[in-house]
Amino acid sequence: TLVGAGEIVGRARRAGRGAAAFNVVQIEHAQAVVAGAERADAPVILQISENAARYHGALRPIGAAVLEVAAAARVPAAVHLDHATGAELVDTAIELGFGSVMYDASALEHGRNVAVTAEIAARCHARGVWVEAELGEIGGKDGVHDPTARTDPDEAAAYVAATGVDALAVAVGTSHAMLTRTTTLDLGRIAALRAAVPVPLVLHGSSGVPDEGLVEAVAAGITKVNIATRLNQVYTRAIREHLAADPEVVDPRRYVASARDAVAGEVTHLLGVLRGPGAM
Ligand code: G3H
Ligand code: ZN
Repeated sequence: TLVGAGEIVGRARRAGRGAAAFNVVQIEHAQAVVAGAERADAPVILQISENAARYHGALRPIGAAVLEVAAAARVPAAVHLDHATGAELVDTAIELGFGSVMYDASALEHGRNVAVTAEIAARCHARGVWVEAELGEIGGKDGVHDPTARTDPDEAAAYVAATGVDALAVAVGTSHAMLTRTTTLDLGRIAALRAAVPVPLVLHGSSGVPDEGLVEAVAAGITKVNIATRLNQVYTRAIREHLAADPEVVDPRRYVASARDAVAGEVTHLLGVLRGPGAM
């Protein structure tokens, strides 16, 4: 069933659980995420980044396919636009039926970030769409890891008040696209942000965080947990193994299906981790 990410995140926050948001690149990723969520019997957020849309040449074809996959899920599933930097892409996502977007103006100068994000938030809210924004640039998207960036709690509270966003991505020690799970989270900073900021907090770059760290992050005050690289690692490893074991294979459906199964297993595992020790 297609639901809004705001509904999934709101419910998770009230229950003190984490809400996983998995990045999908191809339709097989979306199928894998839904299969993994159905196995875990947990709601799930599927997100398509601006970069993934660029890979496909446009958001429309992949966005429409992912919406179909989410709508057919036997668990609540949301489709979210991730790291959008252009207003046009946000409009396209809304037209397609995405229930939420992340507008990433974190690379802009602070005053511009506030002004542009407030404008996008107002435009999304007028159409019933939930909005996430980022304050305190989380690095790594360019492959350069700098886990020292931090979001200031007072600045974050003022930013949320000024922009009206529904969730805030914060810099608390993570970096995007980490290939090893070696991130040390600034749990004190998460707790301080949680106390200062009225909306749910979002962890980006979660692939660099070990499972125990994800549990601690949620306990300290994170709600939405964005995971991309970790699924890509599992996907690509499965394809490598398949090709090595079956050098004669020609039909891509064979090895991509292996990757899809592997990703589904990882999604089930991660949803179990984020459900937390108190639940079930
Ligand atoms: O927005 C997406 C996430 O922040 C994913 O980060 O690739 O490090 O898991 P990751
Ligand atoms: Zn991110």
